[in-house]
Amino acid sequence: MDREQWRQVVEAATRAPSIHNTQPWSFTVAGNRLDVRADPARALPALDRSGRQRIISCGVAVEFALIALRAAGAEVAVELLPEPADPELLASLTLTGSREVAESDRALGAAIASRHTERAPFQPQAVPAEVVDGLQRAVAAFSVWLKPITETDEEVATAFLLSRAEEIEQSEPEYVAELQHWMRTDPAAVDGIPVGAVLEEDPATRPSNWLIRDFVVGSRPGDRSPFHSPEDPDAPPPPVERPAVVLLGTDNDDAMAWLTAGRGLGQVLLRVTVAGLAASPLTQALDWPATRAQLGTRLSLIGHPQMLLRLGYPGGDRSPSTNRRPLADVLTFAE
Ligand SMILES: Cc1cc2nc3c(=O)[nH]c(=O)nc-3n(C[C@H](O)[C@H](O)[C@H](O)COP(=O)(O)O)c2cc1C
Repeated sequence: MDREQWRQVVEAATRAPSIHNTQPWSFTVAGNRLDVRADPARALPALDRSGRQRIISCGVAVEFALIALRAAGAEVAVELLPEPADPELLASLTLTGSREVAESDRALGAAIASRHTERAPFQPQAVPAEVVDGLQRAVAAFSVWLKPITETDEEVATAFLLSRAEEIEQSEPEYVAELQHWMRTDPAAVDGIPVGAVLEEDPATRPSNWLIRDFVVGSRPGDRSPFHSPEDPDAPPPPVERPAVVLLGTDNDDAMAWLTAGRGLGQVLLRVTVAGLAASPLTQALDWPATRAQLGTRLSLIGHPQMLLRLGYPGGDRSPSTNRRPLADVLTFAE
């Protein structure tokens, strides 16, 4: 592969979602090998003390790089955490030959550019069970499990823990300061979360049974909830969205498990995009050891929850996609 082809692959990898759009990664191309490293300088010590969500974010980038390489006809060998003495080196992807590109490889590769986190309300249309079945099969290849939250008691417990975690976060000055540090008002900003990508209204009054993360804690100008439209106070409330909510988890809870959870998440996000669906993470309950452990107990999980995702058909008002750092900041050619 020439440098331009490698640039395209790394460009695809950087389209991965990351916690607060921190893009906590860097890439090195050395001959026929791509190394993916975590960048601890982009850590979130208040939200993500263990670095779990950082490694999951990088795991998605690894999977996106691999999918881009396969869509370009490359056969690739993947080694995860290849150097125990160098824990920031998360993966080495080595080209081993060429392969025929299947239509499904091409579709997944094309989905990388169109996927983005969709926080706006979904259409009421239900997510087909066969799509969720397909996701379960796809993540099983990574030893990751995917549990749809469908039973009422599980839904109630999960929704409760999400609000509990959101409450804890809003009362933690370090968490709020860190969040504000990563919010961006300049639309040209290359990292962080642009204000345009989060909802204006208070997530607590949004017509959904699922509470999405509040990114503008303490700085909301007033109640803009669609439930309290000042123009027409008698207007009926909009239909309550009922997204499919799925929990991804792993048997272990170490760097290898987080990386593979990220790879499974990458597959899930691209497969839902191919199916015409969109997703947004709801990870507040997993940020805090107490609510994360309670989720495990309340859902009788064997293993560790890694990612909670809301899935559905996007409505007319799509959230904008977010920017990425220039390739020159994240990619080095070793020769
Ligand atoms: C591990 C992880 C956790 C995340 N948690 C949340 C969350 O709780 N709420 C949310 O709205 N988005 C969450 N996100 C989405 C990121 O904010 C989003 O990926 C990032 O801003 C880049 O935007 P994009 O996905 O549209 O490219 C999470 C992403 C990752 C990888």
